[in-house]
Amino acid sequence: MENQQTPASDADGAAVDHVRIFDTTLRDGEQAPGFSMDRRAKLRMAQMLEALGVDVLEAGFPQASPDDFAAVAQIAQSLRTTTACALARCVPGDIDTAARALVGARHARIHVFLSTSPLHREHKLGMSRQQVLDATGAGVERALQLAHEVEFSAEDAMRTEPEFLAEVFSIAAGAGASTLNAPDTVGYLTPDEIAERFAYLLAHVRRERHVVFSSHCHDDLGLAVANSLAAVGAGARQVECTINGIGERAGNAALEEIVMAMKVRGALLRTDTRIDTRKLFPASRLLAELTGQAVPRNKAIVGANAFAHESGIHQHGMLKHRGTYEIMRPEDVGITGTRLVLGKHSGRAALRARLEALGHAPDEAALDALFARFKALADKKREIHDDDLDALARGHDPEATGPWRLLRLDTSAHLGAGASASVRLAHEDGREVAEAALGDGPVDAVLRAIERATDTALELTRFQIQAVGAGGDAQGEARLAARHAEREWNGHGLSTDIVEAAAQAALAIVNRIERQHPRERNPVSQSPRGHAAPSPAIRAAGAARKESSP
Ligand code: KIV
Ligand code: ZN
Repeated sequence: MENQQTPASDADGAAVDHVRIFDTTLRDGEQAPGFSMDRRAKLRMAQMLEALGVDVLEAGFPQASPDDFAAVAQIAQSLRTTTACALARCVPGDIDTAARALVGARHARIHVFLSTSPLHREHKLGMSRQQVLDATGAGVERALQLAHEVEFSAEDAMRTEPEFLAEVFSIAAGAGASTLNAPDTVGYLTPDEIAERFAYLLAHVRRERHVVFSSHCHDDLGLAVANSLAAVGAGARQVECTINGIGERAGNAALEEIVMAMKVRGALLRTDTRIDTRKLFPASRLLAELTGQAVPRNKAIVGANAFAHESGIHQHGMLKHRGTYEIMRPEDVGITGTRLVLGKHSGRAALRARLEALGHAPDEAALDALFARFKALADKKREIHDDDLDALARGHDPEATGPWRLLRLDTSAHLGAGASASVRLAHEDGREVAEAALGDGPVDAVLRAIERATDTALELTRFQIQAVGAGGDAQGEARLAARHAEREWNGHGLSTDIVEAAAQAALAIVNRIERQHPRERNPVSQSPRGHAAPSPAIRAAGAARKESSP
């Protein structure tokens, strides 16, 4: 009946248990509003998560849509050491679809879930206790015939009667589930209550073979990480979590916080993970890039302020001894403390070395493209810092490069009377198009001109500009999100001129649309080019821009 584990040991020889990290960034995280990713982005994130060292990667919910199915299948085939996992409701159709999506996986897990709380049984499922027990057994048995291993989740477990929950888990374990996950689906419990509940489950769930108990905590009361650690303290040996804590509503427990808590407080918690913590920061930044959602400055572990010391007293302390105000080193989470600066005389090898130190691994073609952009930047900016390189590499996306290219951009702002912009674009098929437009401000005018020149309607939903690094010649990083053909598309642009950065971001969106879905394009209007009436989309661009500026 014990939760048998093979303990490792820490530097002092004391026993330390290994906790599995089950990452659900691409499932629970991705399903939250504002965090959707296309297939290419999901695959890129999955590769980063595998490099980070997550034990299990939940790639999606294949029954949700053909696109989700294809993304799970592609990720499952690409993973080498990480277990590929797909979510399924406890019904045959979902389970069979999950199994089909996982066919190419080296190691496949089907994650079957069913609500167990009285509230969900009565109002969501309309099922009796007995029906829930029967469905649990049948679902797990079916999944076990189709995958290497099965995880069973009791949705809303923490608001389920403890004896009934133990009974459900006993049935799931008897049917062959090797992981039993008890989610705090609505983020309701406190750490003490979670610990008590896990202790109860470990003592009362009947099991013949070894099973791993797992926690999955939501952050509605801001307790997800504390609750996950409390579950581990009580014997859970898998934690479900996401990069940057993204997930339904207030999100899931943040992977980077759980992992670093175990690393920094290992002597107390007596548990560890296999995560390569130096990849936490690159993983966080990549997710922000792919979703277009910036990480709050004060976010623990990966926020811009996490290792910043501004006040005089703190700086004074830090200069004397970094331990005065730092409990971990920035380099341990992948933030390089280096002040190494590259310039226009730096070569390709130096660029590659710095990029690798920052957690990027460009192939030869990507390095060629980055080197060209690096040289162009070095002509404008004397010193190129790590922030600049990181932004360059994160923004490098072959899918967003071409067919359109910006040849020329002119703007003028008229105090109190809006702005005008003209663009000249080249298409890889040989066309050159020039357009001009008026707007509320220069950025608005440029976006209108690009819409017209490329004949692509964009309904701007998000627009952020932030400086990369400091100083008068700092680059501006623009992130745009726009709706087109009922989908949201993200674009990223980088330049020492913020209007040009916004133009590059808009072009990245247009390029992505044209590369991925050539037939999905919505023309701006049917009228001849150059005479398009301002569309509602364009007006939204002006509105979104104002909203994003303080
Ligand atoms: O929060 C939850 O209960 C879930 C389950 C599907 C595991 O995400
Ligand atoms: Zn969840």
